[in-house]
Amino acid sequence: MEDLLNLKDLANLKFSIKMKQIQSSKAVNTIQEYYFSKKLNEINELKNKGINVINLGIGNPDLPPPQQVMKALSSFALEEDVHGYQTYKGIFELRDAFAKWYKKYFNVKINPENEILPLMGSKAGIMHISLAFLDKDDEVLIPNPAYPAYASVAKIIGAKPVSYNLKEENNWLPDLQELSKTNLSKVKIMWVNYPNMPTGKKANKTLFKELIDFGIENNILICNDNPYSFILNEDYLSILSTENAFETAIELNSLSKSHNIAGWRMGAVFGNEKYINAIQKIQSNMISGMFLPVQKATIEALKIDDTWYKNLNNIYKERRKLVWKILDKLNCEYSKSSSGMFVWAKVPNKYKDGYELSDYLLEKHRIFITPGGIFGSEGNRFIRISLCTDTTTFNTVLNKIC
Ligand SMILES: Cc1ncc(COP(=O)(O)O)c(C=O)c1O
Repeated sequence: MEDLLNLKDLANLKFSIKMKQIQSSKAVNTIQEYYFSKKLNEINELKNKGINVINLGIGNPDLPPPQQVMKALSSFALEEDVHGYQTYKGIFELRDAFAKWYKKYFNVKINPENEILPLMGSKAGIMHISLAFLDKDDEVLIPNPAYPAYASVAKIIGAKPVSYNLKEENNWLPDLQELSKTNLSKVKIMWVNYPNMPTGKKANKTLFKELIDFGIENNILICNDNPYSFILNEDYLSILSTENAFETAIELNSLSKSHNIAGWRMGAVFGNEKYINAIQKIQSNMISGMFLPVQKATIEALKIDDTWYKNLNNIYKERRKLVWKILDKLNCEYSKSSSGMFVWAKVPNKYKDGYELSDYLLEKHRIFITPGGIFGSEGNRFIRISLCTDTTTFNTVLNKIC
């Protein structure tokens, strides 16, 4: 049996020596596999060895969507004539529901005919927007720290990501005066993301006004990525509510976190018709519409009463209290007024950086938390804990680290 196996291995080896390797594109070499994709594999490998890891890293909502929304999805899915390709820009009723949602919560008037494009999640939107506005060698302003997709997509396209720092001492806000002194002639897009991930910094009207002025003055498309607008944030704010915003800004939003439907892949981009048309042109070449029951059930989600958001946030508030306790035990510093689905905390000086604390917790206690450095160098001294875990688990973590 052993000999047989060896012969087989030898045959495979010969085959692999002979096999020619097709080179992947240059774009592939400009990026790395998504951090969480790699980390989840590592955690799964440990699991296969019988080692259970408590994962406090990822912002994947663990709570169910609203009951009526799940029911709507399943009953629409049982209809016979809903399974075909769909229109490229979503059914009108969905765009109309998005427009009403923006009016109700953000006081922004959006024309459902031409100022909204439903997307398969805002992550897809980041790609479509970048393809719609960036040419090779164009520059893109990207916050440091930031959601990694902004820079990866720019690199895939051959555009040049240019970091601008969000510093703790500047309260995680951009220094637009400093940025104005730099050469911005090649910059086409500036990514902003408030409420901010990973820092939890909330949006404010002054910041949005300054960003709009900056965009107009420098002829830059300001893209605000706003998926955390409803999470631990009572002051719903859209950059599009700022005067003249439609001239120079667009906004992404998503139901992944606001309605716990991250797996449905439902988001939208809002803005001036000419910008939406360009993004739509790209998207129409990439997807063939979205599953109709998902579109129809999303309409139910968008109509949901305010109490949904309040109840959801009450759960997150309870969890956050436990996370604060965990962070106190670890001697980390954090703000109690942050928004979003994570707590961002500074590690004590005895650790070289957030990676070291993250590694220590994984090795010693089998707890995974995200090192802040994966979001950029300004996050090096930080860690990020996700609130997508129940209180029992947070209590377990608390007991483990005591
Ligand atoms: C800042 C930010 N933007 C976009 C996304 C992607 O969200 P979606 O599920 O809508 O693609 C995430 C998800 O974690 C995020 O943190």
